[in-house]
Amino acid sequence: MPILEVKQLTKIFGQDARRGLSMLQQGWSKEKIAREAKLTVGVNQAEFHIKEGEIFVIMGLSGSGKSTLVRLLNRLIDPTAGQILFRGQDIVKMNAEELRQFRRKNIGMVFQKFGLFPHRTVLGNAEYGLEVQGVDKKKRRELALKALELVGLGGWEQHRPDQLSGGMQQRVGLARGLANDPDILLMDEAFSALDPLIRKDMQQELLELQSRLKKTIVFITHDLDEALRIGDRIALMKDGVIVQIGTPEEILIQPANKYVERFVEDVDLSKVLTAAHVMKQPEMIRPERGPRVALQLMRDSGVSSLYVADKEMKLLGVITADDASLALKEQKSISDVLRKEIPIVGPDALLNELFDLMAGSPLPVAVVDERERLKGIVIKGAVLSALAGNALPEGGDI
Ligand SMILES: Nc1ncnc2c1ncn2[C@@H]1O[C@H](COP(=O)(O)OP(=O)(O)OP(=O)(O)O)[C@@H](O)[C@H]1O
Ligand SMILES: [Mg+2]
Repeated sequence: MPILEVKQLTKIFGQDARRGLSMLQQGWSKEKIAREAKLTVGVNQAEFHIKEGEIFVIMGLSGSGKSTLVRLLNRLIDPTAGQILFRGQDIVKMNAEELRQFRRKNIGMVFQKFGLFPHRTVLGNAEYGLEVQGVDKKKRRELALKALELVGLGGWEQHRPDQLSGGMQQRVGLARGLANDPDILLMDEAFSALDPLIRKDMQQELLELQSRLKKTIVFITHDLDEALRIGDRIALMKDGVIVQIGTPEEILIQPANKYVERFVEDVDLSKVLTAAHVMKQPEMIRPERGPRVALQLMRDSGVSSLYVADKEMKLLGVITADDASLALKEQKSISDVLRKEIPIVGPDALLNELFDLMAGSPLPVAVVDERERLKGIVIKGAVLSALAGNALPEGGDI
């Protein structure tokens, strides 16, 4: 079951907002509704689900509805229509007490401008959410200290925010969001105010934190690079509508429409796509099958070399047609004529790291996992084709 399931979620701002619902259902644009009904569409019939433990990024230009959407998820604002199911229970229908429990146990939030109180200490700031939720003093102190430790601020508890750098202030915000150990962490432009280098560090740390804590994170940004770097999936919004949801690769390689295309057109795919995205299944043979079978296999599949791997799939080398013929003539085994100087990368290697390797080798690059097992091969054509924005090869994810 997804941790969150959102159905037909709509927020319209203005007097008697429900009037706008039928207009949306008739397909009126945000602009037309603003003009004719004096209503502002914040979120328009959003449908999506978020998986447990995933980093779900909501991206879009200013005014596209990102903040509205994320505030609906913890009901900082109430929707005009729709459902938000948290592990199957509709948050929209919760009464005040249920909502309090939900916020206390299940969801946390980090804001863009850090939202820190200047007169409180770091510890006091980290405790704030718990205090509002009525957690008793001893307990909230203990939880806040733990959260500060988690974000690398152990030892800074008694400082005030203005004694901290921007990056550290953001960590205090993060600690506050994590203090109640929530299942879902909402982050609205949490890193947008940071300097680019510090921002990259924070993104990296968030990924590390996430892999340790396994939180579900809903992360809002208007920055495509950031979305691509940290998102497991990305939802792209325009005028309150979610125009596409997909993995970073899907958004880049198969943009759903012109709007998404324009959004992603400047992305350098070679810095986003990895060997795993473009690799294909190699023709393979086990060494004990001998050169005669190797030659036959090459003939049958129309290739001039085979990858040789043992029964655990561990890559041993490559045998070419010429070498196989020679082995046959001289009664040698595959192992005798095996070529071992093959370029090798891990599945996560970026395409721009592959160029040099490919230029220096007549053979495709072999993709092996951490146990040296052959996962696939990357041929030049597939890389060029992917960089030109073409669909990825069939069976690329063996
Ligand atoms: N309280 C409100 N009252 C009226 N209109 C609102 C309110 N909050 C947001 N809106 C409108 O809803 C739309 C979506 O705004 P929202 O703040 O969600 O956008 P955003 O994508 O978060 O933008 P930004 O990147 O600038 O933060 C905008 O047209 C905005 O003017
Ligand atoms: Mg916003």
